[in-house]
Amino acid sequence: PRVAVVFGGRSGEHPVSCVTAAGVVSAIDRERYDVVPVGITRTGRWVLVEGDLSALALSGARLAEVPADGTVVALPQEVGARELLPVGRPAGPAALGAVDVVLPLLHGPYGEDGTLQGLLELSDTRYVGSGVLASAASMDKQVMKALLVAAGLPVGPYVAFTARRWERERDACRAEVEALGWPVFVKPARAGSSLGITRVGGPEDLDAAVAEAQRHDPKVVVEAAITGREIECGVLEDLDGGEPLTSLPGEVAVVDGREFYDFDAKYLVADEAVELSCPADLPADVTRRVRETAVRVFEAMGAEGLARVDLFVCEDGRLYVNEINTMPGFTPTSMFPRMWAATGMDYPTLVDHLLQLALR
Ligand code: DAL
Ligand code: MG
Repeated sequence: PRVAVVFGGRSGEHPVSCVTAAGVVSAIDRERYDVVPVGITRTGRWVLVEGDLSALALSGARLAEVPADGTVVALPQEVGARELLPVGRPAGPAALGAVDVVLPLLHGPYGEDGTLQGLLELSDTRYVGSGVLASAASMDKQVMKALLVAAGLPVGPYVAFTARRWERERDACRAEVEALGWPVFVKPARAGSSLGITRVGGPEDLDAAVAEAQRHDPKVVVEAAITGREIECGVLEDLDGGEPLTSLPGEVAVVDGREFYDFDAKYLVADEAVELSCPADLPADVTRRVRETAVRVFEAMGAEGLARVDLFVCEDGRLYVNEINTMPGFTPTSMFPRMWAATGMDYPTLVDHLLQLALR
């Protein structure tokens, strides 16, 4: 089968997506699949990329990027989004040729949020991962929390406000935040990789944090800080349509004194800043509850294919769901593949499982 791997994109997580793509493309079995790498530049231009994608991997503090002319190594051929539209099962489009499946390795808005999924639905193209609604709802932290609460899942205290409310009813918004107690985490409703997130210790720093979050999304979510261990769990749909599979949980511990698992700790100084333990050292009953909760979150959001569910485990054993990521970071050293490796599924097998799910 022919697989279009789509990466980069218009979100702030563009560089993360490039690294994910470099890893995934290297793991696709070329005997079985024909790979068409499609980069989306930061401004939304689609380029066919040829050559060695590993050049896109992050190195040190350098952020990867799809070059505007698409040249990573060899000369690419530029295509417009419209030319991608007719790509699909029966059709044979000019630019890409027919592709059997699209692997949308995009993180954040314009990719992980249902927009690309909508384009692919319109063109009757199969793709890996969640559909339009689950992608969009999982991307928006306010909508996600509302759905999780409705499903009876444990979610920490939070408030959310649109830019209009924050402008016109500032005092009321501030009072809602105050009621959460300090510190709080101020987040853009739709972003990922901790972009635009600030930990705020008191009212004097709230305005600046909201402004920072609003650079990513006019809608802002403010969460009460939860004291607990950061535990993540991978979910994969089963090829036979059975109960979704879960990985052994992993744990993220920030070790360099920073306040939270921020963008730099995730990607730029990960070696020094964080310790990823996989499997997490948890009592057996907590591991079981984490895995059960991860499946419930996956089902509550109507997710498909894959997801990583992030939770807090408190000292008294209580769990809180932090979020779901419908296209989790997927570099060979990311938590998602590491959790599956610890569970007995290596990186190439995991990539193949995803392609097989989409091709069913
Ligand atoms: N949003 C990043 C890529 C993650 O969840 O891993
Ligand atoms: Mg997270």
